[in-house]
Amino acid sequence: MSEFANALQNGHPNARRGWTLPMIGAVGLALLLGGCGKTDTKTIQEEAAMAQRLQRVGTVELQVATGGGEPKTGEQAYQAQCAACHAAGALGAPKFGDAAAWAPRIGAGLAALTNSALKGKNAMPAQAGGALSDLEISRAAAYMANAGGAKFSEPKAE
Ligand code: HEC
Repeated sequence: MSEFANALQNGHPNARRGWTLPMIGAVGLALLLGGCGKTDTKTIQEEAAMAQRLQRVGTVELQVATGGGEPKTGEQAYQAQCAACHAAGALGAPKFGDAAAWAPRIGAGLAALTNSALKGKNAMPAQAGGALSDLEISRAAAYMANAGGAKFSEPKAE
């Protein structure tokens, strides 16, 4: 007996999956077609409402994934986005905690440092390459500069 026939007879998981998925698909299609058969506006409205509800669930999940409404602290923002380059000093980035690398920059002030991260500077892309808010980026800049010897206070939400 061939291996495939054997697998079918023994109910090999692969063989079974091969049959079950198309069957589920067929049943689903039959239900769908059945629903279309008695198309009336109510069904379509219900489906639209359902689609809207599903969309809302998707939106909520997205917000949870990005941390909800609360803006990140400087440390959280740094970990989320800035450490990729600044932890090791990649691409010529001033390294986290490296006072010698930060000293000449700190003198420019937090607004100028934040501006560099927002607009981009040389190998650092605009918005520091990600999806943080301006507030979160300024907090991360303060957090990093402070680790390099500055004494900026963490910018507050407006
Ligand atoms: C893709 C790598 C990369 C990422 C990610 C990155 N940076 Fe940078 N950053 C750099 C580089 C490179 C420089 C040095 C730019 C220069 O002076 O040539 C720099 C410099 C800076 C400076 C000093 C700017 C100045 O005017 O001297 C600040 C402040 C800064 N980054 C903040 C941030 C913050 C905050 C984040 C995260 C929100 C971040 N960076 C993420 C690469 C990065």
